[in-house]
Parts: sequence; C-alpha cells; structure tokens
Amino acid sequence: MKKITIAIDGHSSCGKSTMAKDLARKLGYVYIDTGAMYRAVTLYAIEHNLIKEEVDVEGLRSQMENVNISFLFNEATGRPDTYLNGTRVEDRIRTMEVSSKVSLIAAIDFVRTAMVAQQQEMGNGGGVVMDGRDIGTTVFPNAELKIFVTASAEVRAKRRYDELTAKGEVCNLQEILENVQERDRLDSTRAVSPLRKADDAIVLDNSELTIEQQNEWLMEKAVSVINN
Ligand code: DC
Repeated sequence: MKKITIAIDGHSSCGKSTMAKDLARKLGYVYIDTGAMYRAVTLYAIEHNLIKEEVDVEGLRSQMENVNISFLFNEATGRPDTYLNGTRVEDRIRTMEVSSKVSLIAAIDFVRTAMVAQQQEMGNGGGVVMDGRDIGTTVFPNAELKIFVTASAEVRAKRRYDELTAKGEVCNLQEILENVQERDRLDSTRAVSPLRKADDAIVLDNSELTIEQQNEWLMEKAVSVINN
C-alpha cells in the first residue's frame, strides 16, 4: 500500500493532535507534533533566561544549535513523547507558562528555519501524519492529503480547560479563552509562515463533532487518497 504524507493544520486547541495521533496509529504511520517542537524551544528559552518581557533573540540565536528535539514512542500511552536534549519534557511543554510564550518563539525566522528542516527530514519518505500550522503550506506543500481544522474559540478554550484541569492544573477558563484568541491573532498575523489554509486543503470545523466522529471523517479521507 502506498505511504502518503498527511498534513493537518489549523488553530490551536482544536483537537488536531488527537485526530492526527489516532489516524497515525490506525495507519501504522509516524506521528509528528510540530507544535511540541516550538513548545520545546520555548521551554529551553524560559529555562535559560532568554525570555523576560521579550525574547532575547540574539541570545537564543547563539544557543540554537544546543537545542535538540526528538520524539520517542511511549508504549504505555501509545504516542510519542517529546524530548529536549535527551530529557523527557512532554508535561512541562504543556503548561500555561509555555502556552503563553510559544507564539513569540514560533514567530522567529531562524527558529522556524531550524524546525522546518528537522520536520522535512523526519517526514521524508512518507508514511507520516504531521500536525501544525504550516505543514501543508511550507513543510510539505506536496502532501497528498491536507486538512485544515478549526472550531470556535469558545469550544477550543473549554477543551483546553478540561485537559489542564484533568491533569490537576489550576486554571481559569476566561484566561485560557484570551490565550487562545491571542495565539490565533499572533499565529495568523506573523510575518514568517503565518497560519493559513493551503489552497488545496479540506476544511473541517469540528465544533459540533465528537472525537469519534472526527476520527472517522479523517480516516475516510485518508483511505480514499491512499486507494486512489
Ligand atoms: O499546536 P500547539 O498549540 O501545541 O502549538 C504551539 C504553538 O506553536 C502555537 O502557538 C503555534 C506554533 N506552531 C507553529 O507556529 N507552527 C507549527 N507548525 C506548529 C505550531
């Protein structure tokens, strides 16, 4: 069976990674969460005092070659964990602190250049489901299947709130909604590789869909491309 490249882009917290992971598992493909990579760079910057009010761009540039990101499949959870310089950072990259700073890091040109090059290498050869903001437009413009996922900001904030609360993090729904809206704005208006639907991407608004319904929808799309 042919191994295709599947690009899943869209707004933050709209369930892209849930559907991408599920699809990759069912197809036996590799799943790559590119948001986790920008989050890991952000964690590195926070831990090395490279973000105060603003990012110390030159400081980060000089240390960029020390930032090594990798993924290791976790048998227990059935999905890959993110590692920063050999340390598992899967939980630490999902905190509100990282979420509130990551758009600043993701807007820096040399960070994007480094991440895109790594993503292209990881996905080289197909058999990959990659989720992010610029996969169908910049990383794999020739991907055989491109999906652009969205949902209302309120629905997305509630999903993130439930996720964080389930992990025991104390959080505030209004604050999360503002973070989601601010990230939409920053992601869509940044100069380098802004969030944009690829012309040939299929749009999925999952505001009213259950996880099972969206997974099923995506599987159908993938199978029809693979079989053609
Ligand atoms: O999908 P996420 O919320 O984990 O992504 C974290 C941030 O990284 C988000 O604010 C946008 C940015 N990002 C990006 O600019 N390009 C990507 N390919 C993936 C994520």
